[in-house]
Amino acid sequence: MDKPIQVNSDITVLPSHLPLPIPGHGYVGINAFVLKSQQPVLVDTGMGIEADEYMSALESIIDPSEIQWIWITHDDADHIGNLEAVLARAPKAKIITNIIGVARMETSWHINLDMVHLVNPGETLDVGDRILHAVRPPLFDSPATMGLYDPKSDAFFSSDCFGAFVPEPVPNAQDVASDALLEGFGMFNKGNHPWVHLADEKKLGSVLNEVKEMNPQTILSAHLAPATGMLDQFLKTMAQLPSADPFVGPNQVEIEQIMAQVNAGQVPTVEA
Ligand SMILES: [Fe+2]
Ligand SMILES: [Fe+2]
Repeated sequence: MDKPIQVNSDITVLPSHLPLPIPGHGYVGINAFVLKSQQPVLVDTGMGIEADEYMSALESIIDPSEIQWIWITHDDADHIGNLEAVLARAPKAKIITNIIGVARMETSWHINLDMVHLVNPGETLDVGDRILHAVRPPLFDSPATMGLYDPKSDAFFSSDCFGAFVPEPVPNAQDVASDALLEGFGMFNKGNHPWVHLADEKKLGSVLNEVKEMNPQTILSAHLAPATGMLDQFLKTMAQLPSADPFVGPNQVEIEQIMAQVNAGQVPTVEA
């Protein structure tokens, strides 16, 4: 886990990252979030592989017993890794997901429907001092994916969408040079959502327009540090992805060459 990041008075990021960079592309952040609304919301639960660190980071931000809602943006392992551990410490909390999310999480452990509050994209959740809007982000890698827009903070919690490979883990997306960020942004969003190459550009464009109209000041992706004031350049880059070259990872020969260079203390020069 990395050091928690305070986005504003209400939102804290619980950041982590994959321990090794993706060769040739960079690091992938893994973020969960605490939203201190009147009824506190935890957005995603991190990776089970670092359960103790995750729970310590969470406890440094909020007493888990105060959490009222655990918004699971989708059922991938980097989002539900510590859900059971959090639930054990948060007896009042209900899981926010949709029926697809329930069905997919049911393959990991039995979910009692009493633990769940179903929300569909387009619906809202009243958390006391604000109304959260459930939004399916433009790109997603699970049919259960459901982000949320918080009008009070003007922040869009976008699940995997709007993530990026970055040269080093950073506390703010603005800390990455613009060219490198947009390159890593395009690569990540193609790699994590390869179906974007099957998408009709006009249809994707109309979904991107919905985000443009929502116009969040801050994008809080699970896979990029907080990004403020960067929406336009992100949407422009995303609109070009359907016809861009697809992401292709290194094959076995290439990864062996890359790792030989890394182990020799060299910067990898092998291109996948
Ligand atoms: Fe995912
Ligand atoms: Fe993810």
